[in-house]
Amino acid sequence: MQSEWKSLTTSRWMKIALGAVFVLGNAVLYFNSRHFITEILLSHSPMLSANFTKDNFTHHSSLDKMFYQSSSVFTTEMAFLREPVVNPHDFKYLIQPKVTCANEDVILVMCVPIAYNNYEGRSVIRKTWGSYAYNMSNKARLVFFIGNIPPESGKSAAFTQRNISAESLQYGDILQEDYVDSYRNLSLKSVSILKWVHLFCSFTKFVLKVDDDIYINIPFLVNVLHEYSSHKSSPKSYVIGSLQVNAHPKRDSNSKWYTPTSMFPGNTYPNYAIGPAYAMTGIAASLLYEASLRVPTFWLEDIYITGLCAKTASVKLYESGYFTFEKRAVSGCSFKSNISGHQYKHQEILQIHKQLNDPNLKC
Ligand SMILES: *[C@@H]1O[C@H](CO)[C@@H](O)[C@H](O)[C@H]1NC(C)=O
Ligand SMILES: *[C@@H]1O[C@H](CO)[C@@H](O)[C@H](O)[C@H]1NC(C)=O
Ligand SMILES: *[C@@H]1O[C@H](CO)[C@@H](O)[C@H](O)[C@H]1NC(C)=O
Ligand SMILES: *[C@@H]1O[C@H](CO)[C@@H](O)[C@H](O)[C@H]1NC(C)=O
Ligand SMILES: *[C@@H]1O[C@H](CO)[C@@H](O)[C@H](O)[C@H]1NC(C)=O
Ligand SMILES: *[C@@H]1O[C@H](CO)[C@@H](O)[C@H](O)[C@H]1NC(C)=O
Repeated sequence: MQSEWKSLTTSRWMKIALGAVFVLGNAVLYFNSRHFITEILLSHSPMLSANFTKDNFTHHSSLDKMFYQSSSVFTTEMAFLREPVVNPHDFKYLIQPKVTCANEDVILVMCVPIAYNNYEGRSVIRKTWGSYAYNMSNKARLVFFIGNIPPESGKSAAFTQRNISAESLQYGDILQEDYVDSYRNLSLKSVSILKWVHLFCSFTKFVLKVDDDIYINIPFLVNVLHEYSSHKSSPKSYVIGSLQVNAHPKRDSNSKWYTPTSMFPGNTYPNYAIGPAYAMTGIAASLLYEASLRVPTFWLEDIYITGLCAKTASVKLYESGYFTFEKRAVSGCSFKSNISGHQYKHQEILQIHKQLNDPNLKC
């Protein structure tokens, strides 16, 4: 998608999208809360019997709370919940995080899909922007999402798994599910994020999905999210990021994003937020999870989650020019009043973070 993104003039889209924000904001959602909660209970009854290392109380109480919360939020009937479940996403949890939102007022969950063997990537994030979660007054959480070690790794798999378990014991911030961890399975990884948030953290105000090659100014992001959500007209469920509008599937078999008509017959993708970094409300995460169970899966996770699923669940999309797919200059100043930049090496993430947090930073 990269070349395609570059060819778009971001500022033009920003203007269009900023205008759209206010129009979309006026679309009031009428959800029938009782219907919604019934569907949640029904659709999740198999999961209630799964083995959770967390106490079961958390889960039940979160459903109760959702009921009360939902009466003000879900005031219209969500017809899509009556669609049959086609992707149950019932992979076993191999490792669960110690990190939890149980009965706490969480503002932001930072969710990082990352390769199972990217130890250094996790370490750099814990030391830099992810450390925001370690200050309790920020009411934030950091969780890494990995899949199972691919079968072809053979004998080394047991060693690798022990290594990951040791890391999990130390930091308690890893969720590992039993699907094969691979590039082609990134949509499963994104659904594992939504599922975990929905089951264990559904009252978080906001959720961030962010890749490991991103630098992101978390305090700035939180301010922007609060600002968007404080508008009277702002919907309770939205995704915000760098939007891609009217993109077409790549039909050239040499493209990294080659998508034959058998995988996506249409000529145009629904509008979506570009994958490396996007944020959403906690309610949007629950709705997108519900949608993912019902919308046939698609291999490009951003198009799948923030395009196809968001459309189904009527989750709004907001454009913010503070997000970008581009690589901003490696400096604290590039991020002083920006949210994200993409394609940084570990060393660069450390450098940006250090500069940005230097009290003497002058821009
Ligand atoms: C949670 O519920 C499951 C199934 O109902 C049960 O097997 C498990 O022991 C419970 N766990 C706890 C910690 O109570
Ligand atoms: C729950 O635990 C039991 C026994 O430990 C195991 O047989 C079963 O497969 C587990 N179920 C899930 C969903 O993990
Ligand atoms: C934690 O965050 C609060 C509020 O943002 C801030 O005032 C405080 O200095 C932070 N504490 C540390 C140890 O960074
Ligand atoms: C896991 O392996 C990586 C790379 O070999 C190493 O840096 C890391 O310290 C190991 N983690 C643990 C907990 O042993
Ligand atoms: C994706 O994960 C599923 C479930 O583990 C597995 O069967 C499939 O082979 C994986 N696909 C790829 C392309 O890795
Ligand atoms: C945001 O990033 C852009 C592009 O990297 C840069 O030109 C701009 O100065 C940044 N803005 C601020 C206020 O940091």
